[in-house]
Formats: sequence, structure tokens, C-alpha cells
Amino acid sequence: MTKVKERTSMLDEVLHGLTGPQKSLPSKYFYDERGSRLFDEITELEEYYPTRTERNILEQNIEEIECHLGEEAILIEPGSGSSDKTRILLKGLNNIAGYIPIDISGDYLFSVASELQKAFPEITIQALQADYTHSIDLPDALPEGRKVVFFPGSTIGNFKRDTVDRFLNVVADIVGSNGAFLIGADLKKDIDVLLAAYNDSKGITAEFNKNILRHINRELGTDFNPDLFDHKAIWNEEESRIEMHLICREAHEVEVAGTTVSFRKGESIHTENSHKYTLAEFSEIVSPWFDVKKVWTDEKDWFSLQYLEPKQG
Ligand code: AVI
Repeated sequence: MTKVKERTSMLDEVLHGLTGPQKSLPSKYFYDERGSRLFDEITELEEYYPTRTERNILEQNIEEIECHLGEEAILIEPGSGSSDKTRILLKGLNNIAGYIPIDISGDYLFSVASELQKAFPEITIQALQADYTHSIDLPDALPEGRKVVFFPGSTIGNFKRDTVDRFLNVVADIVGSNGAFLIGADLKKDIDVLLAAYNDSKGITAEFNKNILRHINRELGTDFNPDLFDHKAIWNEEESRIEMHLICREAHEVEVAGTTVSFRKGESIHTENSHKYTLAEFSEIVSPWFDVKKVWTDEKDWFSLQYLEPKQG
């Protein structure tokens, strides 16, 4: 996408989100350079259990994972970022013929891919710059192998229900009838554990949340003052999700490309959903496209890595 197009669609989304009865902003706008750095810091926090728990699950079950993937697999990773968890697979599995990292941010993607190619010369690595939520056109020349989509981190939990369905459709399309889907899904647990993970004592998640306003200011030339908002994470039982909000400290107005947006004291901007699942709920969500064939969890049952196969027939 060109810069002008990107700016226009960001402006449309921001205006749309800030003019409804419940103000909201798309969580993808957390992630500029600073936001990505803050997210990396979150993953190292004591309170933020998902990253280290999923890494442990991958490391501890690497042999079983290899058996499930079959003789030769091509790993396809939408939203690959630093390909951090994938390194565990590339290192530990002997049956990976190819790896296709897919990401929207090209420069970073290509530099990670070339570094990985050096580290794993026996694996064909073909980076693909794309927005994976709509469709994925795989490169024509792929090594022989079973297509396996890898989607760690419980990123699926950040999607709205219609986006989940569209994404599962895209994945089913690319893996075909004999492929597979290896996905991380965060599980329901004690609410205090969940709240602490999204409201850490060092305030990194608060900075991450407010960074959405800094990012928008830079891209759209707006003048949001992040200090006029407080970070809040709540558990929404009905929707089974953590929600992140920015709560306005005092009434004020912000100009967004000629539109005046008014904020009341105490009003919230809803910035993120992070759904948590029971195993039964997750299996139900994927069931129009996939059957869950194997689930690995940690000893506290806090996080799951799930091996799915396309529904046959
Ligand atoms: C990227 N995603 C899976 C994270 C999550 O846990 O929902 C994003 C995050 N938001 C606050 N902390 C981490």
C-alpha cells in the first residue's frame, strides 16, 4: 500500500471509531516501532504468562509436534514479526522443507528472513509481504511438502468474531485438504491472573496502550495528549475477554482532520480485545473448517497449542 492510501484508511478507521457511541480504535495501531518494542517488553514481564508458557509448550513437545506434521512440511506463518517462536520449530524439527513468513511490514520481514536463511541453509525460506487477514497468495514455486500454517501467541484472540471467521477461511484455503494448522490459544483462568497480565506493575502495558495515541498523532498530525488518559484493563465475562480501554481524565476536544471529537471525563476509548477460551469453545469456533486433533498445554492449563486438520468431506 502507498503511504497516502495507508494514511487515508487509518484516518477513516480512526474517525469511524471515535464517532460511535462507544469510542474505539483498532488495536493494530498499537504497533509502530515504539509499540512493537513495548510489546516485546510486555512478553518478558513476570505477569505476562502467555509468551513464556507457549515457548515452554513448544520446547517440551517438539518430538510429538514433529510426528504430527508428517514427513515434509512447509511452515507458513501469517504475521511472523521476529519469527521468534518459529525458531524453536526450525531448530527442533527435522521435517521442515520450507518456511514462508508473512508480514505487512516489508523491511523487517525481509531482514528477518535473510538472517533465518543463513541460520537454516537447508530450509527454503521465502518471505511474503501481505495483509494476511483477507487472502494469501503463496509463491508459485514451493518446495514439496504439506502446508502447515503456524499462528502462535493467541493473536486470534485479538480478532473480532467476523475477522476470526474470515481468517479461518483464508487458512483453510491455503492449507488445502491435506494440510494442517498449528495455533496458540490462550485459555480461561483465574481473573486475577488475567487482570495482572494486562495491568502490569511496571506500567509497560499502560504505555503500550497509550502508544496508540502517539502513533495516530504521528501519522495523522493529530494532537492527542496521552497524559489525559489512564490505562484500564477489565474482564468482560459475557464476551470472555480482557478489554483494554483508555479512560479520559478530563473533558476536552481533539481535532481529527477537521472533525472535532469531544471527550467527557471518565469516557473510554476501547482499544483492544483479548479473548480467552475453554478448549470446548475453541473447538466450536474452528469447527466449520477444522477438527482439533491434538492439544498441548502447560501444567497449569493456562495456554494451549493446538494441532488442527481440515474437516474432511
Ligand atoms: C498480541 N496479543 C496476542 C497480545 C494479547 O495478549 O492479547 C497483545 C497484548 N495486549 C496487551 N498485552 C499484550
